[in-house]
Amino acid sequence: MPQRPTLIAPSLLAANFARLADEVAAVQAAGADWLHLDVMDGHFVPNISFGPVVLRALRPLTRLPFDVHLMIAPVDAYLAAFAEAGADHILIHAEAGPHTHRSLQAIAGLGCKAGLVLNPATPALHAAPVLDMVDILLVMSVNPGFGGQKFLHSQLAKIAELRRMIDASGRDIRLEVDGGVDAHTAPLCIAAGADTFVAGTAIFATPDYAAAIASLRGLPA
Ligand code: DX5
Ligand code: ZN
Repeated sequence: MPQRPTLIAPSLLAANFARLADEVAAVQAAGADWLHLDVMDGHFVPNISFGPVVLRALRPLTRLPFDVHLMIAPVDAYLAAFAEAGADHILIHAEAGPHTHRSLQAIAGLGCKAGLVLNPATPALHAAPVLDMVDILLVMSVNPGFGGQKFLHSQLAKIAELRRMIDASGRDIRLEVDGGVDAHTAPLCIAAGADTFVAGTAIFATPDYAAAIASLRGLPA
């Protein structure tokens, strides 16, 4: 199968929150493909970040698709608010509740692309029964809740397994990786079959966002 272009989704969690508009403009100018927005509820994960009001404020400022990672349980009551606030992709966790299928249906019904997120301890097979409903599979390569954690190499085998499942399905599904992705770990993920990367620290903690994004794609800066 021909290699698809690698997409980069900077995670706003590592940006300067006092200058969010400037940060979004900077990653867009630096060549970002999507903007990754990490929503944390202080219940499903032990941290609190931001909600739809922040998406709504940023929406007019950028043409980048909003890749919205909901770390919320239960999530269903909040899906419409994120769609209305400007989400293009809504990603829910497989571990967030017993009704993954219903939540994915609801996301599609809101006109958004639907994504399923797998925590490090959740097997690839969890995605099999809903492969016909997802546009994105997101592998957590850290435990969700915080930026700046160390990449879990144990997730590479899962990425490879999901790549085989996606190829066998014949569907157009992005295989995204989130957590500890940098210029050293991204090539390992690409070799395993990933085609899309979330990166917070590896972009926003550097002085040159364009160089950081290029190096995540495996290109010279
Ligand atoms: C963690 C979030 C990530 C986080 C990644 O729960 O889902 O998107 O911002 O941060 P880095 O790239 O610093 O590991
Ligand atoms: Zn995320």
